Amino acid sequence: MIFTVAIDGPAAAGKGTISRAVADRFGFRHLDTGLLYRAVGMKGGDPGEAARSLTPEDLGRGDLRTLEAGQAASRVAALPEVRAALVEFQRRFARGEGGAVLDGRDIGTVICPEAEVKLYVTASPEVRAHRRWLELGGDEAQVLAEVRERDARDMGRADAPLRPASDAVLIDTSRMTIDEAVAAAVAVVEARLVGT
Ligand code: DC
Repeated sequence: MIFTVAIDGPAAAGKGTISRAVADRFGFRHLDTGLLYRAVGMKGGDPGEAARSLTPEDLGRGDLRTLEAGQAASRVAALPEVRAALVEFQRRFARGEGGAVLDGRDIGTVICPEAEVKLYVTASPEVRAHRRWLELGGDEAQVLAEVRERDARDMGRADAPLRPASDAVLIDTSRMTIDEAVAAAVAVVEARLVGT
């Protein structure tokens, strides 16, 4: 079976948690595409070259979840050369046998417009910054400023900006528990699977 679940949305909206839960629930493979950009951003040197030569070791670095890596990822992600180098790998993963969940910014719009399910997971900047702050600590006002900066860059870039696909189902997790958000996503996937 080929079945792709595309989950897009801004930083810290809950995409990662929802994606892992959906993949577990249905036995699908999962790819956190943000990690690819984080690894490119942290590799240093020419970003295009870094994207073309990514290795499993690059993706296994221990510092890819930091705020610094997120900012570095967001910057290199605006470069068309970097995005182009990562497209094929993501498409192959999405359309491989066995069902796949991919989370990122442009999965439903650019990487896999034919995805069987498209979700756009979002939450207010304040809620997202608060969650990031609980995870990583530091100064909450600074975390909020970084969330807004990253949103502006990810939504404002010319190549594959973050936006919901026209046929995406919107899930606003601002007032949801994790369980509620996962249940909402699972229900959408289940309904679509019944139809295939
Ligand atoms: O999801 P994340 O926070 O790990 O993503 C880090 C950055 O990578 C994000 O700010 C923008 C970029 N990104 C992207 O441009 N396209 C994707 N599909 C995933 C991430």
